[in-house]
Parts: sequence; structure tokens; C-alpha cells
Amino acid sequence: MRHLLAIQGLPPSAVTALLDLAESYVLLNRTGKTPRDRLRGRTLINLFFEDSTRTRTSFELAGKRLGADVITMTVATSSVNKGETLLDTAATLNAMNCDLLVVRHAVSGAPALLAQKVDAAVVNAGDGTHEHPTQALLDALTLRRRRGTLDNLVVAICGDVLHSRVARSNIHLLTALGARVRVVGPPTLIPPAVERLGVAVFHDMAAGLDGADVVMMLRLQQERMARGLVPSAREYFRFYGLDAAKLARARPGALVMHPGPMNRGVEIASEIADHPTQSVIREQVEMGVAVRMAVLDMLARAGGDA
Ligand code: NCD
Repeated sequence: MRHLLAIQGLPPSAVTALLDLAESYVLLNRTGKTPRDRLRGRTLINLFFEDSTRTRTSFELAGKRLGADVITMTVATSSVNKGETLLDTAATLNAMNCDLLVVRHAVSGAPALLAQKVDAAVVNAGDGTHEHPTQALLDALTLRRRRGTLDNLVVAICGDVLHSRVARSNIHLLTALGARVRVVGPPTLIPPAVERLGVAVFHDMAAGLDGADVVMMLRLQQERMARGLVPSAREYFRFYGLDAAKLARARPGALVMHPGPMNRGVEIASEIADHPTQSVIREQVEMGVAVRMAVLDMLARAGGDA
């Protein structure tokens, strides 16, 4: 594995190896005893062309907890438009002898393009509506720790599936590890022919959640909608927002996930987001650091000299 650009095409054995390594970092993170010599002398550049809180911070922490020199560049789209193209930026970074390059970009495929042009190992931190591999890995780690295995787990991915790179990466990863995946949402927010990815499609929330072990809510990504695909936030919540009544259709004790950032009262009710036993949303954030440490560690090893 030279880069981590997508979950699609990644062998299940590689996924499992990453999750096992991440698991070891969970405990080390909790005790503060991470191996700070793992990435000593390595340079990690986080290049974020799109907003991020969790992903950017956790990649930064992950790099630092393994001892890398970490630089984070948050590039406002406007200054990119000043004329420096993505490839110019890549050439600049290359000249700085960067070892690991973490990229988030609004255009699907941008990290893959960069990977062809730089010497560094590239990690996709979310590209357009394509993929967000580390998010799917951290979701899988959260589920594996809670349920032991993903095999046969019924996972309902709900809401704005059309614009969600989180959904796409999760569909690939969860189905590869044996979960039974459903996508649930209004017809305007479900990608055409998504069944081909091995998922079942539901437009009715109650039917989609019926008997689910896990309910994964997605943010309504209004910024990616050229025109209104939903009538109003209020109406959306009524039909597709996760509240106690809808969650009651899932299995008792079903786990509730959300990649964040959440629109409370739009796709999820606050009482569910903060549910003391069923919501694992904060745990997902914790797992994010461990998973990113595993990814950086693995890629640095693949690059040699580590
Ligand atoms: C997601 C993203 O950026 O794809 N956020 C995240 O990384 N946790 C989801 C979103 O923006 O809704």
C-alpha cells in the first residue's frame, strides 16, 4: 500500500491489518504512551482545501503522537483561485521533501491526481463526493470494538447518501467485511443504481430501520446541492430525521453513528445524538485518531526506512 486513496479495491486483509494496528493505538492514546519515535524525522503535510474540524485535527494529532513534523495548510478556495493550480502546489510540496501528504479537496479524484505527481505517500481525507477512507475505517473500528465483528451486522446508512463520500467509503468497507448494508433516504438523495454496490435501498425510514443493528446518519450537504433537493429542513426532519420514535424501529440497543458535523434538528434529534448508551458519535471521534495513526504508520513503513 503506497497511498490510501479509497476503500474500493482495498483487500479486506489490508483493512483488517489497519484496524488491528489502530486497535493497539487506542490504548496507547488513552495512556499517553504513544511511540513518538515511529515517525521521527518524517514530514507530514495536511493540505485542506475544504472545511474540516475532526479530520484535520485528528490527522495532526496522529502525526504528532507518532513524532512526525506536522504542518497543516488550510487553503481557502479563493486563494487557490488566485492561480496556483493543484499541480503547482504539488510541485512546491514535493520540493520540501514531504513524506506524507494528507489531502482534502472538493473535487473527486484530486488526491489521486496528486499521488501521481508527488513522491510522498498520499492519504485521501475526503474528495468531493467520492471517498473518505479514514472515516470508514474509524467507523469500522468503532463497530468492531462494540460488536466484535461486522459480519452479518445490519447497517442502515441514512440521509444524504448522494453527496456523501462517507457513505461511499462505508458501503465498500462494510460490505467487504460482511455487513448487510441498507441505504435509506428520499429518492432525490439516493445515487442512481446504488444497488450495484451491494446495498438495499429504502425510501421509507421506518422500513429502512426495521431490525437494524446500526443506524448511521449523514449530514444534509446543502453546500453540494445546486438546487433544493429537499423541501425544507423541517419537513426533512419529519420524514428522515432520527428521533426516538424512528429509532424504536431498529433493534433494541441499536448503535447510532454520525460522522459529524451534525445538523441537530435536521438529520438527528439532540436527544438521540447525545443518547448515553446508543450514541457512539464521540467514540467515533476518538477512534479517528487511532485509525489515522495506523494509516500514517503503515504508509511510512511501506515507504521504507521506518
Ligand atoms: C464528513 C466529510 O467531510 O465528508 N465529515 C467528516 O470528515 N467527519 C461528513 C460531512 O461533511 O458531512
